[in-house]
Amino acid sequence: MSGVGGWKSVEDGWQAVDDLICATLLGDDPALAACLERSRAAGLPDIAVSAPQGRLLELLATVTGTRRVLEVGTLGGFSTIFLARGVGGGGRVTTLELIPEYAAIARESLAAAGVDDRVEVIVGPALDSLARLAGPIDLTFLDADKVNNCAYVDHAVRLSRPGALILVDNVVREGNVVAPDPSDESAVGTRRLYDHVRDHPRLAGTAIQTVGAKGWDGLMILRVLD
Ligand code: DHB
Ligand code: MG
Repeated sequence: MSGVGGWKSVEDGWQAVDDLICATLLGDDPALAACLERSRAAGLPDIAVSAPQGRLLELLATVTGTRRVLEVGTLGGFSTIFLARGVGGGGRVTTLELIPEYAAIARESLAAAGVDDRVEVIVGPALDSLARLAGPIDLTFLDADKVNNCAYVDHAVRLSRPGALILVDNVVREGNVVAPDPSDESAVGTRRLYDHVRDHPRLAGTAIQTVGAKGWDGLMILRVLD
């Protein structure tokens, strides 16, 4: 027994609480359920944000009055749906995906969720796509490969309006980020991001550790200074 809840493992407790959050605060959401099922059926990796995390993305977009979102790493479009809801009908989400098959799945789910009119999915290496994009962006969500996170942040700063938010997924990775194994390129890339942000004259913010259905991880939340 672990903790006060009597679950077999602490992870079971995290899952049970996420289930409670979904059942009470998020409610049934057929479009999101269909998105996950479509991704699963197509064999996409099960690495999308959790629904509670997705709702946080939506909420942050909404409370900041965000109209333009940049997402790096579309995967099956699960987080994209939340972001598209967050910007509302007059908003715009540009989302970048390396793998054409993933982008095709995402486009299906975005259309089924009724937000495809406000989302552009761009296929190709994100660094190439980013170099061709223009701002101003109000909110960026970085959730692609972790090796290029510093470069993605630099592009995001360049494209951001002053005061914009930059959110980075997976910045804790079960604590691996503290002293990454040199062979773990993702953890090394994420660890480098902390120093990069510390040394960046136009970035300030924090990172929040999270537990839940997706394990122990975290979200970096940065503000682009004037
Ligand atoms: C991985 C990537 C993610 O963006 C995530 O949220 C979880 C895992 C991965 O590459 O393993
Ligand atoms: Mg992620």
